[in-house]
Amino acid sequence: MKGTSYSKVPTGIEGLDSMLEGGLPKGRIILVRGSPGAGKSILCSHYLFNGATKFGENGIYVSLEESKHQLFREMKLFDMDFKSLEEENQVAFIDASPIRHTPAETKLGNIRVGRRDFSLMALGKLIQTKAEEWKAERIVIDPLTALSLQYSDDIRRWEMMLDLLEILGRTSATCILTEDLRAPSLAGEIPIEDYAVHGVILMQSLEMGKGAVKTIRIVKMRESKHDDQTRIYQIDEAGIVVYPTTAWSI
Ligand SMILES: Nc1ncnc2c1ncn2[C@@H]1O[C@H](COP(=O)(O)OP(=O)(O)O)[C@@H](O)[C@H]1O
Ligand SMILES: [Mg+2]
Repeated sequence: MKGTSYSKVPTGIEGLDSMLEGGLPKGRIILVRGSPGAGKSILCSHYLFNGATKFGENGIYVSLEESKHQLFREMKLFDMDFKSLEEENQVAFIDASPIRHTPAETKLGNIRVGRRDFSLMALGKLIQTKAEEWKAERIVIDPLTALSLQYSDDIRRWEMMLDLLEILGRTSATCILTEDLRAPSLAGEIPIEDYAVHGVILMQSLEMGKGAVKTIRIVKMRESKHDDQTRIYQIDEAGIVVYPTTAWSI
């Protein structure tokens, strides 16, 4: 492919950056899907922390599940001090978890809007304003599932995704959205989210005979060369470490 190589945005997780041949494609939106406890929030934190401390890029953490206090405390255990980064205006934290508890219908001026529309409008506005204010080059939304669960039908969920992607696209930041891995549907169909985003990374725990191993795979990454193997990773006191080992060689 001539002339289509993107500038890359390193996550700072060495093994993952090798898989990505340098990093995430700049200005694009990547979905990280994984089972609960797979390390999605840790991955997002590495991404923003390394961005701020190693690459001089400001970031925004939009959390739809954990409170700021919880997340800051957990990440401190991995030597990531988000409190200092926030004080130094390098990483902003948006605690969007209350959005799930807004009333079913809200009045916005003279317009009566449903909870879902309001949630997304409010969140979108907030992200946009913060991104401009902080000149954010990295944004994470963790987990998107908290928002998408509000939409039972695929069409509404699709519209929600497109609205959100448009808002994120306007910021021109490189974004990671996370999603919980649910049981695969019987038909094995591809979730609609996968079509809307630029890339999909899968984090899973697999039974491998010797016990469970954590595996990571780049399912898709449009217009960029990447590793197509399933690799092993671990979480230790330094956070996520991705090994060059393939899942099939152990
Ligand atoms: N010090 C540690 N050593 C090893 N694993 C850890 C440590 N701290 C947390 N973990 C692992 O990290 C997981 C939580 O990661 P997290 O990013 O919150 O998951 P997710 O966001 O995908 O639900 C826990 O399930 C645990 O397995
Ligand atoms: Mg999480």
